[in-house]
Amino acid sequence: MSVPMLDLAPQNAAVKDQILQGLSGIIDRSSFVLGENVKGLEADLAQYAGARYAVGMSSGTDALLVALMALGVKHGDEVILPTFTFFATAGVVARLGATPVFVDLDPRTFNMTGALVEAAITPRTKAIIPVHLFGQLAEMPAIMAVADKHGIPVLEDACQSLGAKGWGRSAGEFGQMTACSFYPTKNLGAFGDAGLTLIRDDEALAARVRRMRVHGMEPVYVHHEIGMNGRIDEFQALVLRAKLPMLEGWHEGRRRHAQWYIERLKAITPDELAFPLEVVPDGRHIYNQFTVRVKGGRREALMAHLKSLGIGCAVYYPICLHEQPCFQYLGIKKGQLAESEKASQEVLSLPVFPEMTPAMLEEVAKALLGFFGK
Ligand SMILES: Cc1ncc(COP(=O)(O)O)c(C=O)c1O
Repeated sequence: MSVPMLDLAPQNAAVKDQILQGLSGIIDRSSFVLGENVKGLEADLAQYAGARYAVGMSSGTDALLVALMALGVKHGDEVILPTFTFFATAGVVARLGATPVFVDLDPRTFNMTGALVEAAITPRTKAIIPVHLFGQLAEMPAIMAVADKHGIPVLEDACQSLGAKGWGRSAGEFGQMTACSFYPTKNLGAFGDAGLTLIRDDEALAARVRRMRVHGMEPVYVHHEIGMNGRIDEFQALVLRAKLPMLEGWHEGRRRHAQWYIERLKAITPDELAFPLEVVPDGRHIYNQFTVRVKGGRREALMAHLKSLGIGCAVYYPICLHEQPCFQYLGIKKGQLAESEKASQEVLSLPVFPEMTPAMLEEVAKALLGFFGK
């Protein structure tokens, strides 16, 4: 039996009729952008994440970009962020002419820590972007303590982690702002690109984000500052609202599968394969990815083995951002961010989507046990 990395067909089938009906209403009203579905989605998601304000955006990338623009990040500023993340986290910083200041990671979580942030602060630091990678929170209380001490705003990148928890709080409840993505592979996925910027409690900041989304315009054709077209459309908002009631169940399904893998694969030792453990206190890892570390330089061999058996897997991310051709101008030398470089050599993400059947899970487990001769 082959097992795909992700199969969206079952969850899409569950909401198809509701979405088709809603789409018919959108067509009848001919209200395609920033209409009642977007308003409803913003209210629902602000409540879900525990933030006071939410602004629907065209993607997670634009959700990050608009937040940095609203904070006034510009040429000559520095923004602290991890090197082991998806490109967008750093791309938005560089697009504004600011300098990405890359930091290393805690090998247990793949995320940056308060201590790593503190060591990277300079008088030019304008913002800090902790990324909650793969579904687990970064060390937010320590990061917030450092940021508050220096009066620097924090933008959480929760593009993979809406619904993740730790220290009794959720992604979106720590930093001044939070960016979310609804790219189809996320735990809550749209039918195309979509995103959201959460604003924890600052009404003026929320108003600025909202205005930046539409070219800095308010009222119509009066432009106070240079913004962007970052609008989310009604159809994506409709899809997300239809799926939202199922999101908690999907998180729990992923968590069950992750626990099952860890239990079933106990015969494989940590010096062969290391599992993504939950280390955040009072935490909830939502396993957008179930990312293991393949030890002993055997990742490519394991990938070939899984591929030969028709089992999906993927490497997020094979190259750190400081190693990317476009960031060579920063002059960061090999070995300076050693834990991140090591992670990029070892990580492998395995199928964990909520609709996986026991037979599919067993198929993946058997393939792994076979590879390690167990
Ligand atoms: C950590 C992280 N940041 C930002 C983004 C950008 O989101 P989008 O693809 O919706 O623009 C993603 C999405 O893949 C992501 O995983």
